[in-house]
Amino acid sequence: MEHTPVLLDEIIEYARQAEKKDLIVDCTLGLGGYSERFLKEFHQAIVIGLDVDPFAQNMAKERLSRYGERFSARLMNFRDIEELKNSGKMVPDLVVFDLGVSNLQLTSADRGFSYNEEGPLDMRMGRDSDKVTAWDVINTFDAPEMSDIFRIYGEERHAWQIAKGIVRYRQKEGTIDSTTSLVQVLRQILPAPVQRKMGKHPARRIFQALRIFVNDELESLEKGLEGAFVIVAEKGSIIIVSYHSLEDRIVKHTFKRWKMEGLGQIITKKPVVPSDEEIENNIKARSAKMRIFKKETIFR
Ligand SMILES: C[S@@+](CC[C@H](N)C(=O)[O-])C[C@H]1O[C@@H](n2cnc3c(N)ncnc32)[C@H](O)[C@@H]1O
Repeated sequence: MEHTPVLLDEIIEYARQAEKKDLIVDCTLGLGGYSERFLKEFHQAIVIGLDVDPFAQNMAKERLSRYGERFSARLMNFRDIEELKNSGKMVPDLVVFDLGVSNLQLTSADRGFSYNEEGPLDMRMGRDSDKVTAWDVINTFDAPEMSDIFRIYGEERHAWQIAKGIVRYRQKEGTIDSTTSLVQVLRQILPAPVQRKMGKHPARRIFQALRIFVNDELESLEKGLEGAFVIVAEKGSIIIVSYHSLEDRIVKHTFKRWKMEGLGQIITKKPVVPSDEEIENNIKARSAKMRIFKKETIFR
């Protein structure tokens, strides 16, 4: 199980020039690709990795155990990052986010993230049993609710047609229980010329929408950014890699607002994107955008 870290050389290059990197919080630990490189490059650094997914958190913890007390992993949603303030003197110099799902999650069919693998309609990154799953959305939400999710979080042009089609299918055939059944239903709903026009996989935007909704990703991002700003040191930086326009828009606007409020400076006037070479070696990097904000106030 592998996950190739994205834009990591660029992050390290920035971190090298940063005034301090004694404490680094990796908000999206995953398999620990970023954390491991921080530990290797910056010998004085202590790294704390957060992940909401217990499998990822455990694997990274085991993999990086050789770094002893320099590394610790916590099962935590980054939306609650401000809580780190309460556990000791926690003033990180760098807070790093690498949003979305890891390759481990995408390729574990039983998690239901991939439209290419047969699996249950789950898509929860954490394992909280009280959370709505993709199955709940597809099988219990009404057409207007589903359509909103597809339109807002998937920017899907055919949201209403798809939502209505799913409800009609449910009424006739019963529940839709797996990722591949959902793909089949989508293929039945959308006329072939529409599917051809979509270019990419016809289920891509629907799966993105479900994942964002189930994990409350955009609200977590907003809260996570605000919390990161509160805990990061003065002259410390927030580094964030995002993978689609909804996330990037939130990051861009938050950084602009902070700048206007006089809280610091935007280091990346334009987002940093992967080189052609990186994209050639790792196609999943193609939509990545990195933005950095440097805090310059002790207020807030
Ligand atoms: C793209 S992967 C990170 C990969 C990592 N940088 C590496 O190089 O191995 C994103 C990780 O963030 C986690 N994640 C997503 N949203 C989260 C949240 N709100 N709080 C904590 N972890 C989250 C996912 O479970 C996933 O493991």
